[in-house]
Amino acid sequence: MTVSPARLLFCSCLLLRGGMEGSVMTYHCDPGKFPFPVSYRVCSADGDWSPLRLPSGRPVSRPICKDMLCPGQLQLDNGEFWPRNQWFQVGTTQSFSCQEGFSLYGSAQRNCTLSGEWTGATPICDDHGEEMIQRLLTTLLMNNIYAVI
Ligand SMILES: *[C@@H]1O[C@H](CO)[C@@H](O)[C@H](O)[C@H]1NC(C)=O
Repeated sequence: MTVSPARLLFCSCLLLRGGMEGSVMTYHCDPGKFPFPVSYRVCSADGDWSPLRLPSGRPVSRPICKDMLCPGQLQLDNGEFWPRNQWFQVGTTQSFSCQEGFSLYGSAQRNCTLSGEWTGATPICDDHGEEMIQRLLTTLLMNNIYAVI
């Protein structure tokens, strides 16, 4: 006897349920991919799994595994970056450099990881201007020269 996938879903929902609605079924994909449109479904009181809908509202029967992507940095004041993509595939890199007179803080190169996150830290180009003001203020405060500020 063959059991239709829909029937299987119904059964597993009831089995898992054991009288408890709210049981959860989770979907898993290989590293570097994620289940779309959802990664889990919840059992409702009538024994059905919560519906699967695309962002457009169109219902689908099962999730697909989509590639993880890292969001590209789109702006770096006083610096350059490459490539200028909106999205990066796992394993690719984005590189950063600063204009002359500016120092790079953070990472000069970031790598898109399997989890869709970047390694390292957000790069910033700084010309030490603020740092010098901070130091001056600290010196003034330490000497109790409030009037100047
Ligand atoms: C990115 O990968 C390169 C090459 O493996 C490495 O040199 C660099 O340190 C990595 N960047 C970060 C921020 O981990």
